[in-house]
Amino acid sequence: MYDLILKNGKVVFPDGVKVVDVCVKDGKIEKIMPSVKDLTKDVIDCSGFYVLPGIIDAHVHMRTPGLTMKEDFGTGSRACAAGGVTTFIDMPNTRPPTLNNDDLDEKRGFASDDSIVNFGFYIGANGKNFNDIKRVKNIAGVKIYFGAHYKDISIEDAEALEELFKWGKMPIIIHAESEKGSYEAVKQVLHIAKKYDARVHIAHVSTGSEIEEIEKFKSEKVTCETAPHYLFLNKNAFQDLGNFAKVNPSLQAHEDQEALFGAIDDGVIDMIATDHAPHLKEEKEKSFEEAPVGVPGVETSLPLMLDMVNKGRIDIVKLVKLMCENPARIFGIKNKGKIVEGFDADLVIVDMDEKRVIRNENLFTKCGWSPFNEWELQGVPKITIVNGVKVFENGKIIAGDFRGGEVKFLQ
Ligand code: NCD
Ligand code: ZN
Ligand code: ZN
Repeated sequence: MYDLILKNGKVVFPDGVKVVDVCVKDGKIEKIMPSVKDLTKDVIDCSGFYVLPGIIDAHVHMRTPGLTMKEDFGTGSRACAAGGVTTFIDMPNTRPPTLNNDDLDEKRGFASDDSIVNFGFYIGANGKNFNDIKRVKNIAGVKIYFGAHYKDISIEDAEALEELFKWGKMPIIIHAESEKGSYEAVKQVLHIAKKYDARVHIAHVSTGSEIEEIEKFKSEKVTCETAPHYLFLNKNAFQDLGNFAKVNPSLQAHEDQEALFGAIDDGVIDMIATDHAPHLKEEKEKSFEEAPVGVPGVETSLPLMLDMVNKGRIDIVKLVKLMCENPARIFGIKNKGKIVEGFDADLVIVDMDEKRVIRNENLFTKCGWSPFNEWELQGVPKITIVNGVKVFENGKIIAGDFRGGEVKFLQ
């Protein structure tokens, strides 16, 4: 009667780990029980493995449309599947940028055609598209680049920002980085959000000083994320990686890494999102001034975090909170982020004992490199299941014609 049974896995629930069977039917988690008798044709023996909710990566740049030489929904979603990511939320800095409903519908079409994992979108703001923002439906939030760097998709003055916060109908996710650096910009944004009691989510927190500022304002309405590259790399990475370590905000000091891990323990950091920002090797090989900013991340974030679990730095229940439950809760993603009867069967089966070396040549991302090339990590995603369908198994994409779908945001 079930389509798929995950038998005997160590299943990670919000309140702990239990060895149970997870039974899937019609793309949903139909039943969770100690030992199912009614075996179907497709049973995965998960003995010794962990079963996690699929990872939700709430900050990726998949590059469709307009920048598909770097990545597209096909390659980017395959990279997701290989990294245990079953849902991504895509950023609006494409060509054209995503600034209205037509732009969104175009992206929806491309993603439905090509993505083998589930997806959702942000809309961008340029200070002129407020009416378009008010009209769009089913998006995670408004992404704002606050600062001067990003022409055609940024807001430079605080007044335009105030207008959005005052309206306050959906989460506002901020890339806060002004000429004075990310600290001043974050501070300014937090003050405006407080004034209007608005929902704000600070993207890619990278420094201890930002953490201190966010801590002062922290509430259900003020949330933030950091990215694996800020946890695992610091500015010394430039010695080996050169421009391949060039990212916005830039890599920081060792003490900042410590502060970020501390903020994970304290609950100041709500989620890990990769800021997956693929650029081609030949672009990165240009001079420092010319090389584009950004590093890919969807394929390596779960393995990096699993390695931390193995090293005793974080526990697996907390990992699931940061990478599954909290992204679903913060952006109101329907029926995802937890292993619960009735929720979507987005699952990842993980071997915590296996070690694997990240190698550029094995990656699915179109850009073909990772700042974590050659890192040996313990903890490997073995099987990724999207809406009840196996899309990745033992290093191979097996999705066939299966495509993911657009998630529902309940906000
Ligand atoms: C992003 C990209 O490449 O799209 N790069 C990055 O370093 N984070 C753009 C951005 O958000 O800065
Ligand atoms: Zn950003
Ligand atoms: Zn980004």
